[in-house]
Amino acid sequence: MLAVQRVQGNFQSPLIGAIGPIHFSWAITSDGRDVYQQSYQLQVAEYEDFSTVAYDSGMVSSEQSIGIHVHGFTFQEGRQYWVRVKVVTTDGRCSPFSEPLHIITAFTSRNWTAQFVAVDSKKETSEARYLRKDVHLSRVPIRAMAYTSALGLYEFSINGEVIGDDLFTPGWSDYKKRVLYQSRDITAYLQKGSNCLGALVGVGWYAGEIGFECNRNFYGDRTAFFCQIDLEYADGTIEQLGTDGTWRWAESPILFSEIYDGETYDANREATGWNQPGYRDDSWKSVQELPGMSDRLEPYDGMTVGVVQELAAVQHIVTPHGEHVIDFGQNLTGWVKFKVQGMKGEEVVIRHAEVLDADGNFYTENLRSAKQTIRYTLKGGPQETFHPHFSFQGFRYICLDVYPGTIELENFTAQVIHSRFDEIGGFSSSNALLNRLQHNIIWSLKGNFLDIPTDCPQRDERLGWTGDAQMFVPTAAFLADTWAFFSKWLRDLVLEQRSDGAVSNVVPNVIMDQGMIDGVVGDTFGSSAWGDAATIVPWTMYLAYGDSAILERQYESMKGWVEFIRGNATDGLIWEKSFSFGDWVALDAQEGSYLGATPVGLVSTAYYVRSTQILAQSAKILGKTADANLYADLAEKIKEAFRSRFIGSEGKPKARTQTACVLSLVFNLLLEWQKEPTVELLSTLIKENDGHLTTGFVGTPFICQALSEHGRLSEAYDLLLKQDYPSWLYQVERGATTIWEHWDGIKPDGSMWSPDMNSFNHYAYGAVGSWLYTSIAGLRIDEEYPGYKKVIVAPHIGGGLTTAEAFHHSPYGKIATSWKIIDRVVEFYLSIPPNTSAHLVLEGSDLLDGDFDLSVFTRTDSAFMAEIGSGEYHLRYIR
Ligand code: BGC
Repeated sequence: MLAVQRVQGNFQSPLIGAIGPIHFSWAITSDGRDVYQQSYQLQVAEYEDFSTVAYDSGMVSSEQSIGIHVHGFTFQEGRQYWVRVKVVTTDGRCSPFSEPLHIITAFTSRNWTAQFVAVDSKKETSEARYLRKDVHLSRVPIRAMAYTSALGLYEFSINGEVIGDDLFTPGWSDYKKRVLYQSRDITAYLQKGSNCLGALVGVGWYAGEIGFECNRNFYGDRTAFFCQIDLEYADGTIEQLGTDGTWRWAESPILFSEIYDGETYDANREATGWNQPGYRDDSWKSVQELPGMSDRLEPYDGMTVGVVQELAAVQHIVTPHGEHVIDFGQNLTGWVKFKVQGMKGEEVVIRHAEVLDADGNFYTENLRSAKQTIRYTLKGGPQETFHPHFSFQGFRYICLDVYPGTIELENFTAQVIHSRFDEIGGFSSSNALLNRLQHNIIWSLKGNFLDIPTDCPQRDERLGWTGDAQMFVPTAAFLADTWAFFSKWLRDLVLEQRSDGAVSNVVPNVIMDQGMIDGVVGDTFGSSAWGDAATIVPWTMYLAYGDSAILERQYESMKGWVEFIRGNATDGLIWEKSFSFGDWVALDAQEGSYLGATPVGLVSTAYYVRSTQILAQSAKILGKTADANLYADLAEKIKEAFRSRFIGSEGKPKARTQTACVLSLVFNLLLEWQKEPTVELLSTLIKENDGHLTTGFVGTPFICQALSEHGRLSEAYDLLLKQDYPSWLYQVERGATTIWEHWDGIKPDGSMWSPDMNSFNHYAYGAVGSWLYTSIAGLRIDEEYPGYKKVIVAPHIGGGLTTAEAFHHSPYGKIATSWKIIDRVVEFYLSIPPNTSAHLVLEGSDLLDGDFDLSVFTRTDSAFMAEIGSGEYHLRYIR
């Protein structure tokens, strides 16, 4: 059966709030082998039934199914469209049309008739406010679109009904430069006669406390709401409504709501019917228009946030201190939805924590100043249900400090909140601990993808640290559909980038003063391995999706970053003068220090090469030949300088650290003859440390790769599968359900790392995920054919595993592979989608049998290789 699936616009479906050129992609499913697309037909309609077609490409003879633009048709702003595709394949079949992709286009810039309207200007308030306005419609529109936003966080309602289920809108951007808005079709919510437009607005990232310096009002001290409604009537008339000085505001039941600290809600202060038409708002106060603020509006271009999953409470624990604690069995990001029954004025007080301490008591010290506390005052009567609105918590456990009545587990549900990516990749094996590690990687991804990629979701930080994001992005891109998510964040990275090209260490940038780190004055811009997010994140997106649009858009930013480094490097080659975090929190750091033992200059110069190479490759892809040559040449020169400065006469790094070896090997900085002494040193250093790693943020993602790519596969497995401290599986053995920030977050004796920086939900060390997928399961992108147009399939069997399997939904469709080994006989399976091919490399001595012609294989001493087209393949061989 031939079908076209997953038609996407800018890798999203539906595509809401699109501006600028849209690039389309689709996947094909087919039961045949060696199937390629021969031609496609793409249609655009303004109505879902395609009764009239606004654009028809006709049959276009092309194999391309990613990065498709329509020519000769312009998507109008502020409209809705549906797009469908059908294909003819090389085996002569024609598919039916796909399910349509729904698109809502937004406005690039617009003279909004509505204004942002602000409530009072109490600088220190953490209260949320109601805003409302009754509007009269003399007839029902055939189409009504709402464009809504806030300075703060908002929930928008019409006639008492909350519109949409997106949370934490309008999203976090640098509000001083751009404020995002949501675009929604609200036709079904409006009625003839009176209608009420209502909003509940909290302080959020805009005016609440944000950043480890705990600043308030970072972007402004007055929360405000914006709403513009475009009505279209059957006779073609257009009417516009929206926020203006006639709106009214009042205090709400949310007496306190802060991202870090939780929410305080008094149900007795609910104004019944406040967002219904006809409510008497005479006692409410007038809003104030904020002229000019709407100039900052841009359509939301990220991945919407919502409740994605619910977890039931698993256990009620009474701790040695007598605390009533509920365990949800999983460390997560979100909030608790609870039910309670009691008397008017009684209270519920709930605190949140990630772990219990060594004695089994509720542990909150690692939250630093974040309170993560929910206070709810009952109105009394029938059972009441509550969850917070504008605050999220990082937790596995909750402590019921105050709760009327008996504690019943069924009254508590953890609602997991994150950006709504599709889970497009997975991995499992015969090793249960490894599977648990994989589980923890996914949960740290979920826990830290809430509109922006954060370091952690629990303490008074939760920031878009660039270093963490660039280290984790290859793993994230395998597991989750992250194009829109990173695309939005990269726009903000550009907005925060300094005119000299320096990238801020967090995006959006809310840190004014990094403070001292190990006696060195920190900087808020320009750390190596952090700022390199500017090149590595777009490059990873390009490789994963095969669409160069992201390189095109980010090119000047990428170049700016490389030029910033060049300007700060000695002779333009060795970068060691300015502040960088180095191999952050590596175990070879001196006692009490955050900076690992690897010289910061080595880390910085290695990353300088990496970014310069990415820039050169990007320039080549974009046809910028002069830049491509310039930066390719520069990269070679930096490599040479790196070798003379950091590599000794014996061919190995002068600095005897694991990370020095890892970067030299994986970033390909060495001459051929230097690789063996360097991997030998790495192996020695691991042995000297009793078979353990000492690497920090920078070395850890690549240490297994450095070993396996240089003939030390079994050592890579040994390291990965170590169960004692420090290792990935040590934390698994200790019951971790997410990835920890520190190898010794909880030490073998049960004590904790210093509470000043001890997150239990930090994806950075989860970057090893990439090695599980690319080496154990063996699915790799061929950089010449990005987007998995051609996939390199080269599993590395070892570590005593008897099975491993992985899948990934590439933009072309689903790739799946598995192997099972019994007495050296490997049963291998591979499925690759139409319109792609695979380069297969199987390490073994004899092919036994398969369900396809095995004469396609060529062989070397230790492996078999073949180029194969789409389809499913089974094969047995001797390892
Ligand atoms: C964060 C890290 C971050 C680091 C940089 C920490 O506080 O949690 O993940 O990259 O600071 O210094």
